[in-house]
Amino acid sequence: MQQVQRKLHRDLPPTRLWTYGGASPGPTIETRSGQGLLIEWANELPPRHFLPIDHTLHGAEASRPEVRGVVHVHGAKAPPESDGYPEDWYVPGQSRTYYYPNQQEAAALWYHDHTMGINRLNAYAGMFGLFLIRDDAEDALNLPKGPYEIPLVICDRLLRQDGQLDYPVSGDEARPWVSEVFGNVMVVNGKAFPFLEVEPRRYRFRVLNASNARFFHLSLSNGQTFHQIGTDQGLLPAPVPLERSSLAPAERADLVIDFAGHGGEHIVMNSDSFQVMQFRVKQGQSSASSALPAQLRPVPKIPESTAVRTRALGLIEKKTMTGDSMTMLLNGMPWHAPVTENPVLDSVEIWTLINPTDDSHPIHLHMVRFQILDRRRFEPYYYQTSGELRYTGPSTPPDPEEAGWKDTVRADPRMVTRIIVRFEGFPGRYVWHCHILEHEDNEMMRPYDVVAK
Ligand code: C2O
Ligand code: CU
Ligand code: CU
Repeated sequence: MQQVQRKLHRDLPPTRLWTYGGASPGPTIETRSGQGLLIEWANELPPRHFLPIDHTLHGAEASRPEVRGVVHVHGAKAPPESDGYPEDWYVPGQSRTYYYPNQQEAAALWYHDHTMGINRLNAYAGMFGLFLIRDDAEDALNLPKGPYEIPLVICDRLLRQDGQLDYPVSGDEARPWVSEVFGNVMVVNGKAFPFLEVEPRRYRFRVLNASNARFFHLSLSNGQTFHQIGTDQGLLPAPVPLERSSLAPAERADLVIDFAGHGGEHIVMNSDSFQVMQFRVKQGQSSASSALPAQLRPVPKIPESTAVRTRALGLIEKKTMTGDSMTMLLNGMPWHAPVTENPVLDSVEIWTLINPTDDSHPIHLHMVRFQILDRRRFEPYYYQTSGELRYTGPSTPPDPEEAGWKDTVRADPRMVTRIIVRFEGFPGRYVWHCHILEHEDNEMMRPYDVVAK
């Protein structure tokens, strides 16, 4: 973990960033399934933070050191002592060595800071990177690789005229926390509005939404269809044709875009009204040998009948008198309340995420992968007053591009979202939380225990 000055754009002065290994995103770590890996994460950050800490937040009290770090590999089936528990932070001059067994299928995981109370600031400062796991089944598919497989780590940032990161504050000096941060610039692989020269052939893009709060809806300016071949935890059963790919914070999309027949074109990737990046397609023909297989990897459905327990979990937003959101709670409970979610190792549970708020909350569980069962409208007011669910519509299955292994799920506003999880891996303490980092830092995170059989 190091502070550096890096140019985000040719026309901007260098920006102060906090990084892993001197760049944001940090180095892409490539691993193989079944091959364990030890990483020493050394905290070499400077003694002072440069973003506005809110000392009223739990875990960020003024009595704690200002600069702290701890690394979590998002999506990793890692033992609890190597998972980057938010309270396992350490200060500059210290380091921790974590073990990643990588006993899991090929997928695009990512690593990022997870420090209690200042996670949103450390991540915003630049502390994240990709962690790819590969395996034989994926290799056998002959997907675009080498120079034709490109990570796209996308985040939005508020940049000041002097090129420095701006992190907005509430206006209340004692309590600077704001409920969401949205940038004015899209940064891809550490560059604002970059372009990429591509050959007129198929490319595979490993896309990560590394934003604190912004949801992306990615499309191409020529209206071209592309394919999503994988989601958070690896390959989908079959490619899904799309004109728009939606990504909540922390979600990943494995996309194949075919530039054949577009020689000489400049194609812009947009997200809503933002330009994300540009592809400049070279003229000519290319001798591409990669394929887009019709079948990728089977994703066997976890039968609902195997669930030993169903948990109803409300996502609750507390508002101030003026209607601003103040705190968000999972299941109505703050971080420090006793553990309530305690699944047994290897057992299957259904988690029913009840979202009466007007926000979509991307909910992430550490250590496990899961499947989305369905989403269903309900009456938020009736739920908030009576605690009972009254549905107002039919349940809808996940979108085809979500119908694979996930580790983060959109709990959409005024919807009940059901996921089914097998708690495979290790016994011990993990966390589950909203991946809007401002929410996570303000109590929208809970510990959970995987209990040994
Ligand atoms: Cu992206 Cu708790 O993680
Ligand atoms: Cu995680
Ligand atoms: Cu949230």
